[in-house]
Amino acid sequence: MLKKNVFCVICVMLLVLGPFCLYANGQQDADGSGTVKIGATIYKFDDNYMSFVRKAFEKAAVGKVDLLLADSMNDQSKQNDQIDTYIVKGVKALAINLVDPAAAGTVVEKARKADVPIIFFNKEPAADVLKSYDKCWYAGITSREFAVMEGELIVDAWKSNPKLDKNNDGVIQYVMLKGEPGHADAEVRTTASIETVEAAGISVEQLELQTGMWDSSKGKDLMETWLAKYDDKIEFVIANNDAMALGAVEALKAAGYFSGDKYMPVVGVDGIPEAVELIKKGQMLGTVLNDPKSLGVATFDLVQNVANGRDPLAGTKWTFGKNKDVRVSCVKITKDNLDLAVEAYSD
Ligand code: GAL
Ligand code: CA
Repeated sequence: MLKKNVFCVICVMLLVLGPFCLYANGQQDADGSGTVKIGATIYKFDDNYMSFVRKAFEKAAVGKVDLLLADSMNDQSKQNDQIDTYIVKGVKALAINLVDPAAAGTVVEKARKADVPIIFFNKEPAADVLKSYDKCWYAGITSREFAVMEGELIVDAWKSNPKLDKNNDGVIQYVMLKGEPGHADAEVRTTASIETVEAAGISVEQLELQTGMWDSSKGKDLMETWLAKYDDKIEFVIANNDAMALGAVEALKAAGYFSGDKYMPVVGVDGIPEAVELIKKGQMLGTVLNDPKSLGVATFDLVQNVANGRDPLAGTKWTFGKNKDVRVSCVKITKDNLDLAVEAYSD
């Protein structure tokens, strides 16, 4: 009799507590109907670097959460709609790669109303927006460190190769391909790369600075225009990312560069496979490795935790900086350590 009673009590406990135990493990939704739902957006799927971040994020999510993932197609109002839909569908957390960093406040208000936590990633919201909602955090990169390293690539090349000063005036005549204006990474890469060069005692003259919006074909168009205007007065091409550098190299090749002694130093940021190929061929000087796996995994770790009501960093290897932010660090890449970039961008 006693045995029978104990057995019944255990059965009842299993029935009642079972779903909660599973929920606590992050395997099951509160209503016991399936895995925890997470809503994620990427600002546009056809951004080179973000396509690798997405791959790492999706891979980390397999079997762990019910992931809803949308391409915001570079349209903030589309992204706002996607977020509304996610909230209606009952997501337990959001991982948002903003289209427009300035839209962070609007997104926070949506999440706050629905009491849903958010992990922003790659496009950094203003610090006061992050502070304004206790359930929002940021995963990104050490923006300034990337910019300084890009500057150091320029300094090293300039100091070790006097021929780069084509007109022998001791000044670097450069053109700058800027990423998206208002994007923290683009702003700081544009200024801090040059500040680093100047801090090394090198004078610079900016011939052109325009935005190529992180995009190869825009980089190519701008470079064509600048070559038509300045031809070999340009001594350095500085791009905020590899995609735009790739476009510039295409324009340079079409104008006869990289054959005979017609040369142009080009630097970028990211370390994408196409840039690695160009560095190998001597058609790009170097880049700064932006490790997409680390960002994808960090974003997933945080969003999975908060979706399950845990501390964002619980059980992860990440730590916060000053402003509820996790930052992935960088490495300078030249022809001597290409393997690091190859590894970071492999599956
Ligand atoms: C940067 C990256 C760029 C571009 C951008 C998108 O960190 O270097 O290539 O992907 O993010 O926001
Ligand atoms: Ca010069």
